[in-house]
Amino acid sequence: MSSDTSGQTTTAGTTAVTTDTDTEPDTDTGAGGPTGRSFLFVLGSSRPDGNSEILARAAAERLPAGVPRRWVDLSRLDLPDFQDGRHETGEWPVSGSEAELRDATLAATDIVLVTPLYWYTVSAQMKRYLDYWSGWHGIPGLRFKERMADRTLWGVTVMADREESRAGALVATLDHSAAFLGMRFGGVLLGNGSKPGQVRTDERALARAATFFQRVPRPGRFPRGELPEAEWEEYTGATEAA
Ligand SMILES: Cc1cc2nc3c(=O)[nH]c(=O)nc-3n(C[C@H](O)[C@H](O)[C@H](O)COP(=O)(O)O)c2cc1C
Repeated sequence: MSSDTSGQTTTAGTTAVTTDTDTEPDTDTGAGGPTGRSFLFVLGSSRPDGNSEILARAAAERLPAGVPRRWVDLSRLDLPDFQDGRHETGEWPVSGSEAELRDATLAATDIVLVTPLYWYTVSAQMKRYLDYWSGWHGIPGLRFKERMADRTLWGVTVMADREESRAGALVATLDHSAAFLGMRFGGVLLGNGSKPGQVRTDERALARAATFFQRVPRPGRFPRGELPEAEWEEYTGATEAA
């Protein structure tokens, strides 16, 4: 687990979640701090201290004082690949890591997916985390979807490409995922960089980070017409089948 800005770490081999402030969010309602909000930053890079984490920490520093901030680094979490047991009968084993991740997710009012742009979308680690959401959605009595419905989803990503529109598929993934769960979507903070630390030279990204969490989230949505209709037909053969 990377060190956090407060220097307080609760990893110590027992938990992968670190907390930035003394103020622990309420584990059931997710409420915490003076604003009633609590942020979970989920780190999805495959290298420590990467650009996406640096940018996320720059944004987190500008949250109001006392707002609880927790961090979980997926690549340091002993989490197996998701297995789809939604339609199986009987008990599905839940590892300690999965339970910890699930509890941290449900304890937050704001969930921030921090991921490098990999192949134009989220990293494999982040995708696996989202796959677990489907498993949690299928657990009777957990009410995952209902409980997530009043939460906000945010994204932070760094990419080597200077053409930011090429992160469009990642933005759509997050927006659609928020829409599916009835969550609000705060948008995606974009930065540029390839080598570790390079995002620190992206002044535009750092300026955006300073105010990113002041944005007013809107309901997640399924954007219509992401691709021009002619392109959609070319990819899918829609006209041939018609
Ligand atoms: C497997 C892999 C796939 C990548 N795919 C893309 C990509 O599709 N577009 C892009 O602009 N950069 C891509 N990159 C570059 C990373 O987004 C870039 O190095 C970023 O700064 C990494 O962030 P991190 O330091 O937080 O891991 C890729 C890098 C790797 C290792």
